[in-house]
Amino acid sequence: MSDEAEQIAEAGVIRIAEAADTTALHDTELELLGKRSRLGELKASLRDLEPEERKSLGAALHSARTKIEAAVAERKSALEAVARRARLESERLDLTESLGRANIGHAHPITQTWERLEDVFVGMGYRVADGPEVETDWFNFEALNLPPSHPARSLWDTLYLDPTGLDGVGPEQLLLRTHTSPVQARTMLSAVREGWGPPIYVVCPGRVYRRDTADSTHLPVFHQIEGLVIDRGITMGDLSGTIETFTKAYFGEALTSRMRPSYFPFTEPSAEFDISGPDGEWLELGGCGMVHPNVLASCGLDPEEWSGFAFGFGIDRLAKVRHEVEDLRDFITNDQRFLEQF
Ligand code: PHE
Repeated sequence: MSDEAEQIAEAGVIRIAEAADTTALHDTELELLGKRSRLGELKASLRDLEPEERKSLGAALHSARTKIEAAVAERKSALEAVARRARLESERLDLTESLGRANIGHAHPITQTWERLEDVFVGMGYRVADGPEVETDWFNFEALNLPPSHPARSLWDTLYLDPTGLDGVGPEQLLLRTHTSPVQARTMLSAVREGWGPPIYVVCPGRVYRRDTADSTHLPVFHQIEGLVIDRGITMGDLSGTIETFTKAYFGEALTSRMRPSYFPFTEPSAEFDISGPDGEWLELGGCGMVHPNVLASCGLDPEEWSGFAFGFGIDRLAKVRHEVEDLRDFITNDQRFLEQF
């Protein structure tokens, strides 16, 4: 009977190694070790045996069971490893596909233009300044020689804010700045207060707002860059030279600029400036002029001692010209097919 137990174990180990999956393995295990198996019967017969025989058969049964159990455990882990490998294979993601394409995005064309402009002016020795988009009436208008009843205020379609309920806001009229020119006043005042200027050479790029309907050449929210120079003996010639230098630095040697007489309350004399477009026609870019003595005085500078120029123009419009974009609105609709071109 002991030999029989050993033969059962040997044959069983072979069957177990051949079990095709975990279900087959489980069935085989039951068949070999279950109560109604031959080993089960032998075990039940132990109690009718003589002590000597019982001892040897008992040992044979134990060894048969141990062998079978070890074979089952081994087969089980082999089957599980196969199953795991199959699952990993089926869930595999081919990441090399997205690594292969250099589709990594880039700054928005307006941001690119903004940064390029900063670079050009920093290269000319300017500092970059900024100011808040929510402004007081004083900075946006009054300090710029536009008292409350000034008719030229209508040149800017202003969005006013209702300050009621805003903590810490006094009776001042708040608005969304209509241009970057309030940063001129802020810069002059802080230069005087902090004692770092004049001389002042700054550019102030930023977002501005107007009560306007979007069309191909206007946006109610757009970007300007302001330039301000305050020094001794600054003339209109310096202004025109600066605009020409910037035009060539930004657009290339082939392009040129011109100034036409115009009116702004904060500059005197004032001009608008144009650049020659790729096809030779003139494109209007922005306003400029010599800083008005009243503006210098409002900002704590003596107009007898200091003089300067200022200019301001649209960043969006500049990007439109440079990239020959038909419609300004394309810059804000976030169409990938448009943005990918830059
Ligand atoms: N702030 C003016 C505008 O938005 C432009 C300008 C700036 C004109 C500086 C003169 C000097 O229209």
